[in-house]
Parts: sequence; C-alpha cells; structure tokens
Amino acid sequence: MAKIRSNTIAALDIGSSKISCLLAKISSDLSVQIIGSGHHVARGIKSGAIIDMEDAIQAISNAVSAAEQISGETAHDVIVNITAGQPSSKMIHAEVQLAGHEVDDNDLKNVLDHGRTLPDLTDRTLIHSIPTDYVIDGSHGIRDPRGMFGQKLAANIHAVTANIGAIRNIANCISRCHLDITAAVLSSYASGLACLVEDEMDLGVTIIDMGGGTTKTAVFNDGNLIFTDLLSVGGSHVTNDIARGLGTPLTHAERLKTLHGHAMLMSMDDNEILDVPFIGDDQYAQSGPISKSVLVSIIQPRLEEIFELIRSRLEASGLDHLAGRHVVLTGGASQLPGTRELASMVLNKQVRIGRPLKIPGLQITEAGPASSTLVGLLVYALQNKSIYGKSIPSLDKKSQKTVFSRIGKLFGRSK
Ligand SMILES: Nc1ncnc2c1ncn2[C@@H]1O[C@H](COP(=O)(O)OP(=O)(O)OP(=O)(O)O)[C@@H](O)[C@H]1O
Ligand SMILES: [Mg+2]
Repeated sequence: MAKIRSNTIAALDIGSSKISCLLAKISSDLSVQIIGSGHHVARGIKSGAIIDMEDAIQAISNAVSAAEQISGETAHDVIVNITAGQPSSKMIHAEVQLAGHEVDDNDLKNVLDHGRTLPDLTDRTLIHSIPTDYVIDGSHGIRDPRGMFGQKLAANIHAVTANIGAIRNIANCISRCHLDITAAVLSSYASGLACLVEDEMDLGVTIIDMGGGTTKTAVFNDGNLIFTDLLSVGGSHVTNDIARGLGTPLTHAERLKTLHGHAMLMSMDDNEILDVPFIGDDQYAQSGPISKSVLVSIIQPRLEEIFELIRSRLEASGLDHLAGRHVVLTGGASQLPGTRELASMVLNKQVRIGRPLKIPGLQITEAGPASSTLVGLLVYALQNKSIYGKSIPSLDKKSQKTVFSRIGKLFGRSK
C-alpha cells in the first residue's frame, strides 16, 4: 500500500476586524488535521484593504506566529482571501478551435485564459476564471470536456476581477511577512465553500458573509460560483451607529450590541432598561438608562439597508432567478439575534445561518460563522490538487505546479 504523506498548508483570513491563520496537515489520502490556529485584532486594514502597511504586517505576522507556535511548524506559503479591490463579476464567452482532436488540459487552459482578455484588465486583475458551462460544437451543459472530440470548444466563464493596486498591496504585505501566496480566493467564495452543502450549490443559493467592515454576497448555481458582490458596510458600522446615536464609547457600543442587540424591534423592548455610559469629560462617570427599543431602533435600519441593497443588486444582476429560494447568512455579524428573520423578510427567501461544515477537528473557536472564510480557504486547497499536492512527494509531479507563486506571477488562472 502506498505510504500516506502529508503537507502543511496555511490559510490566512485578512478580515476587517480580525486576522486569523489556520495551519493544517493535508495527507495524500486527503484527510485533514488542524495543527494550529492564531488570531489577532486587525490593524491597518479597512474593508479588507491595506491602509497602513506596517500595522498590517505586524498584525498578520502575529496571527501567523501564534499558529506556528501551537503547531511547532513554520508556514512558508499561504492561501489568502481577497476582499479588497472592489471585486466584481463578469460573464464571458470564450472559444478555442479543436480541429477534431481530443480535448486535453491544454485546451481547457487556453479557453479559461480568455478571461485575461477582458477589456477592463488594464487597472484590474483576474482573481478567478470559473467555467460555468462547456460547449462542444453547440452541445451545451458539458461539465468536463476532457477526452471528448469536436471542432470547437467554447465555455461560459465567470470572471472575477479586482483593482490591481489593492491586490498588489496585499501581495506586498504578505511578502513582507516572509510568506509566499499559494492561492488567492475571493472571501465570499471561500465562505460558500465552507458553509454550503452540495444540494444548495447545485439548486441555487445566495451566501451573504456579514463581516466587520464588509458584507459580501456570492451566488452559486449548478455547483459553480456565478455571481459575487461586495458592500463596504458591516457589523462595525452598526457599532458606530450605536456609539453615535447613544453618545457612548465604541467599546460599550460593541458590548451593548453583542449582549443586548437585536435586529428587529419587538413590543416588549420598551420594558427592558439598559444602563449606558456616556462620553463626557470624566469618562464613564456618567451613565443613564435607555430602553432596549432605542438600541434596536438604531440597529434595525442599518441592517435593513444592507439587505435592501443586496436585494436590489441581485435583481440588477439579472441572476436572481438562478440564486434560488435559499439564503445562507454567515460572518461574525450574522450572529446578532433576529438577523435571520430580518433577512428573510427583506429578501423574501428562506434563510439559515451558516457555519463551517466540512473540516473535521476544528476547535470551537473556528467553528462559528466568523470563521467561514478561513475554513473555506482550506476547503479550496483541498479541491485544488495544485495547492494541496505542492509538496506531497507521492503525488503526480505534473500536478505540482504552483498556480500562484511569487508576486509577479500572482494573479492568473485559479481554477
Ligand atoms: N455575537 C455577536 N452579535 C452581533 N455581532 C457580532 C457578534 N460577534 C461578532 N459580531 C460582529 O461581527 C463583526 C466581525 O465579523 P467577522 O469576524 O466575520 O469580520 P471580519 O472577517 O474581520 O471582517 P470582513 O469580513 O468585513 O473583512 C463585528 O462587527 C462584530 O461586532
Ligand atoms: Mg470576513
């Protein structure tokens, strides 16, 4: 029997609120063992983009070192999430001539590379080029055309692009942490991979990842990511609204939100009285009572606005019918009680809260909705042999090419 060998891979979630790193061993039989995790408060990051390079380097290095210390291993390269650079989706149609020969990996690469010919790629870079449907000589619905014969291979490709400057900043930041990037994965894509079950992905589902500084939407249909969108509004905006509205420090606003907050106003909220410290000369010396209904009436409009924006963007995309009747909410900010019900009311769909599903052995700290992106990066690695097989000697040498290696080669085909 072939000896099982393993390879350590690192997932790095650069969030607006926290930076998290997971180190895992992936064996050649595709079993996964989490060997270390590290978390650090995000610094130098806004809406997933670097706004202070030195602070971001420090925060990322701290999260990675914490995971290294627990595991006793050193991370050399990471699979990182992409939130920055206003990622956007575009469907393109690409064709290559086969002239009667059998479709091979090279033909697939050529057809997918057509994503690079998008006209707006001068200031944007390709993050994902995902084939949603292959067509050979007019026959649609082919999932994997390899081994088939024909004259012309066509593909409908979902191309996800982002502003090149923001992406280079992330690449530079990670490089300055002495790490290489093995793969870069859109945050909402990763969250979907972690939380969604196969049936949802096949029948059509929308995942909404509600983070600290951003809310990301991704639509999956027929097993593929077909649309993605991002709003630069998240849970920290709710906290800011509370701090401003009640005149209380941000730390107290955050506490009020997580301990007493609710997404929807209810009649008994008038009867619940909360003590709120006010900002003043003598900090925290003054405090006063407010009813819970005051707190909830600050939270609800902001969340309603987020879901209404998502609804109108989905409608504008023309893909709402493919998104199905199901919505999965995830991300730290989805934990606010009542958020599921509010989303269901505004979006008029069935909504559930999504947590990472697919990796056994996760610690409790990585099992909640705030870890969906992080865990999804590992799921992505497991689905791409070019990543997990990179240094497993028993795997096919041909599959070991690193898709993303150094910054210069960074943004090419990823699926
Ligand atoms: N129990 C809770 N109730 C309500 N909100 C919560 C709770 N726990 C965390 N949050 C909120 O979740 C947000 C952070 O979520 P998360 O950790 O997913 O963000 P992130 O990944 O760092 O940010 P982003 O994805 O936007 O880059 C914060 O705004 C925080 O207030
Ligand atoms: Mg996040």
